[in-house]
Amino acid sequence: TGSPSIRNFSIIAHVDHGKSTLADRILEHLGAMGERDKRDQTLDTLELERERGITIKSTPIRLKYVREGGEEYIFNLIDTPGHVDFNYEVSRSLAACEGVLLLVDASQGVEAQTIVNAYLAIDNDLEIVPVVNKIDLPAADPEGAAQELEEVIGIPAEDAVFASGKTGVGVPDILEAIVEKIPAPSGDPAAPLKALIFDSFYDAYQGVILFVRVLEGTLSPKDQIHLMNAGKNFDVDKVGTFSPGLVVGDTLPAGAVGWVAAGIKDIQDAQVGDTLTGKERRTEEPFPGFKPAQPVVFSGLYPTDTEDYRKLREALEKLKLNDAAFNFEPETSEALGFGFRCGFLGLLHAEIIQERLEREYDLDLIATAPAVVYRVTLTNGEVFETQNPAEFPTRDRIELVEEPYIKLSVMVPEDYVGPIMGLLQERRGSMQTMNYIGKRVELVYEVPFAEILYDFHDRLKSISRGYASMDYEQIGYREGDLRKVDIMVNGDVIDALAVIVHESKSYSLGRKIVDKMAEVIPRQMFPVPVQATIGGKIIARATVKAYRKDVLAKCYGGDITRKKKLLEKQKKGRARMKQFGTVEVPQEAFLAVLSTE
Ligand code: GTP
Repeated sequence: TGSPSIRNFSIIAHVDHGKSTLADRILEHLGAMGERDKRDQTLDTLELERERGITIKSTPIRLKYVREGGEEYIFNLIDTPGHVDFNYEVSRSLAACEGVLLLVDASQGVEAQTIVNAYLAIDNDLEIVPVVNKIDLPAADPEGAAQELEEVIGIPAEDAVFASGKTGVGVPDILEAIVEKIPAPSGDPAAPLKALIFDSFYDAYQGVILFVRVLEGTLSPKDQIHLMNAGKNFDVDKVGTFSPGLVVGDTLPAGAVGWVAAGIKDIQDAQVGDTLTGKERRTEEPFPGFKPAQPVVFSGLYPTDTEDYRKLREALEKLKLNDAAFNFEPETSEALGFGFRCGFLGLLHAEIIQERLEREYDLDLIATAPAVVYRVTLTNGEVFETQNPAEFPTRDRIELVEEPYIKLSVMVPEDYVGPIMGLLQERRGSMQTMNYIGKRVELVYEVPFAEILYDFHDRLKSISRGYASMDYEQIGYREGDLRKVDIMVNGDVIDALAVIVHESKSYSLGRKIVDKMAEVIPRQMFPVPVQATIGGKIIARATVKAYRKDVLAKCYGGDITRKKKLLEKQKKGRARMKQFGTVEVPQEAFLAVLSTE
């Protein structure tokens, strides 16, 4: 059994190694150009994704390939997100495939994401077709890049296909390699149904649309289905394929990639990675590796204008309809009033949601510093998890605190190894391995997740002049000596400014925060003290000096544009301020904890 004429595959690559460009070239070659644009429209790809040049989600695409001699093949090209926040989605999309094209930029060689992605493919037992891309570049070294693939990942260099998504050279070879090297899907269409959910989105009319890969059996309209991890049953309305956009079809047999609408109202009921089977005729085991979507980064979101609370809640509810990985619950802060504690997959995910709230729902928000989830054991033996500094117990009640760790992989030219190791040390990292790959080095470290959350990537890039790359995965919890630092403005503790930090950094961080706050809080008619405390003990102090003269007085002379700029800047700043008694604190202050400058 099986479907000898189907090939299900994905393209994986380090960011900017040319995945989208090559995919377009393949589409064009198979007479589907323009389809990509249509596809973007059908699924309403976020404007934000385009601006940031990253792909978060897009539908698979079904293509027909006719070989010389007339043999016909169906290619299902399944896209994968391009950011580490969404690595679980990447792994599920790969699980829906039999093979991947592993792209490497011929002028850059293997980068951190190349390695991590290749291992995701290997873990899913996929056939890897190595493609050295951008060979048209003057700086291209295709043989060198192929050699690196062999050294690092163990793919024979002579297997690499040399190509350019820009000129189209090598594309016919890639299409042939897909047919020759990537196995056809196996699976018995008469067996009990077993299908893997690898993506989903919410449609206002049809409910949640699931993207599935049928592994065994056949999925048809009117089937009664059972979701194995959710433990829920649904009736299938429609099934279909991607052509692109959603095209209604008759059935999806084993081997097929397609979509299902089954009147599912709540996206939490049909999570990525879950297995679909028949309600009556069940498959024995669910597809392995299911993980419920679990936020790992939390931040408080508060409307600048308290009147907007209801509007914010409605907007959050709408966003959640389409995003099983996002959650929120009401939270009250003495300082900020009513808001929501929100959970995200990572900082990029958090930024995207925040930007959408501001742009699409026209909300003005204050966001508190992002925090990871800590596991606290109290002296009375009780264990609980918290990501909210406001809930962090005092030291005398704590037996032990654990924090999440990641395994971080960094690729860096050998000239920068020293400074990068210094950076990793400063971030409390411990080295696991160090591999030389030509003139570059792969460093593998275990690092507390909190330490790389905010500006680590920027620091890495600036220290290495843009040459270093990184990727990581969560590896569980380790003990850490963590403290809560409180911030007081004008004698009042501002709960929303509290942060949890490692003991070794608490003093320097306290210093940094108060200095930054003193800088960004506008001057008042009186001096305002800003203090950092641990357990009530003051560890740092700064003062916002009293207001003296108009800022515009500095721009003597007729420099109108500069005055205008200054006024605009002030206006912008004001829009995001919160009043605390007599003192206004701008949004910047809430992120002061994170900035390194
Ligand atoms: P993400 O979607 O962010 O992961 O990026 P990507 O891997 O899809 O890269 P994309 O296709 O957007 O290409 C990145 C940059 O490289 C763009 O500026 C492209 O124009 C350029 N580029 C892509 N392919 C080629 C190629 O074959 N040759 C040359 N010279 N440039 C290319």
